[in-house]
Amino acid sequence: MLANKSIVLGVTGGIAAFKVAELASQLTKAGALIDVVMTRGAMEFIAPLTFQALTHRPVVTEMFRLLTETEIGHISLASRADLIVVAPATANVIAKLACGLADDMLTTTILATRAPVLIAPAMEENMLTNTVTQANIASLRERGMVFVESQFGRLASGKIGKGRMAEVDDLMVAIRKIIAQKGDLAGMKVVITAGGTHEPIDPVRFIGNRSSGKMGFALAEAARDRGAEVTLILGPTYLQPPKGVKIVNVETALDMKRAVEGVVADAHVLIMAAAVADFRVEQPAEQKIKREKLDGMDLHLVKNPDILAQVSNPGLVKVGFAAESQDLVENARAKLEKKHLQLIVANNITSPESGFGVDTNKVTLVDAAGNVTELPLMSKREVAEQVLNKVGTLRSSS
Ligand SMILES: Cc1cc2nc3c(=O)[nH]c(=O)nc-3n(C[C@H](O)[C@H](O)[C@H](O)COP(=O)(O)O)c2cc1C
Repeated sequence: MLANKSIVLGVTGGIAAFKVAELASQLTKAGALIDVVMTRGAMEFIAPLTFQALTHRPVVTEMFRLLTETEIGHISLASRADLIVVAPATANVIAKLACGLADDMLTTTILATRAPVLIAPAMEENMLTNTVTQANIASLRERGMVFVESQFGRLASGKIGKGRMAEVDDLMVAIRKIIAQKGDLAGMKVVITAGGTHEPIDPVRFIGNRSSGKMGFALAEAARDRGAEVTLILGPTYLQPPKGVKIVNVETALDMKRAVEGVVADAHVLIMAAAVADFRVEQPAEQKIKREKLDGMDLHLVKNPDILAQVSNPGLVKVGFAAESQDLVENARAKLEKKHLQLIVANNITSPESGFGVDTNKVTLVDAAGNVTELPLMSKREVAEQVLNKVGTLRSSS
């Protein structure tokens, strides 16, 4: 989604400038075209050559260089930018922007642009909390500039306080979110379930399954990066969930049902990628079951509700997953009909490259019109993109 996006990265004179080399590197790896514009202050902290080497593009440091001005002057930079990021943003540059000053290449470019502007302040706590800085930030926010909040932690002075620049990962999420506003799922509410469920036997034991949540995470990231407002309803997992989506943690199938019902009313798309337990223990023990007191144990299981079959709203596109070990398409089609789905993603869990815990998947898409699309082995992220492409066509044809 960042491929070929034009991003102006304004670097100003704070210690955190060195961290922004990593940001420039990650953006370049993601395919974005990065034009770094440095203030004089920034060049006291990090050399332009570092950014030039990382972005493979010239770095702009001067306002009045004839060559620079003809090739990539502030007007052309300002008009071709899809986004301008100022990181780190000093108290000084924030004040200048709030006043509309244009006394260097960066502030001039920002004044001349219609692109969104993302600002990552970094400074000592006293500078940040000073009423004049706070008023400047409020005034820029009011004019539509987006801030990535600085964080609490160890500051360059050695003091602990608020003012550290947000981490590069958080900046990447904020950047993707702004670029995604022009994505094909912009404005859509997408609910995704992921992971397995735990059905308690007693306070310490449960019945679970092998789902890692990876497929659901890939779907959540892909939908987020295409502009959707994503709610991820997540069963227990040891993996780190994606940033920039709303997470609702659940444990059991009944919890998951309640969570889905709580958000589905105004959703446009529901994708159930979670492996929800089919059965639960009818009466979990309230106290830990003692091994010494028993020779054996029978658990009576009762059926869990079929969440996907039971929830809906008019216009909702419902997408299910079918993990099958035989008769893939026939079983998937039967599930699609029974649960009134628009699309089902079927995978053969007997294949070692697909299914639980791995990063790849080989799936077949079956839709309500009877189309069957067998996809080759691909990463879960690529599968997610294919599923969302299909969701897009289903929505526009409904
Ligand atoms: C060692 C050192 C560290 C600095 N760190 C910061 C900082 O983190 N944040 C900030 O707002 N200013 C910081 N400053 C002050 C700015 O560099 C100064 O206000 C400068 O005028 C900013 O210019 P610029 O905004 O055009 O880059 C620091 C100054 C020095 C000498």
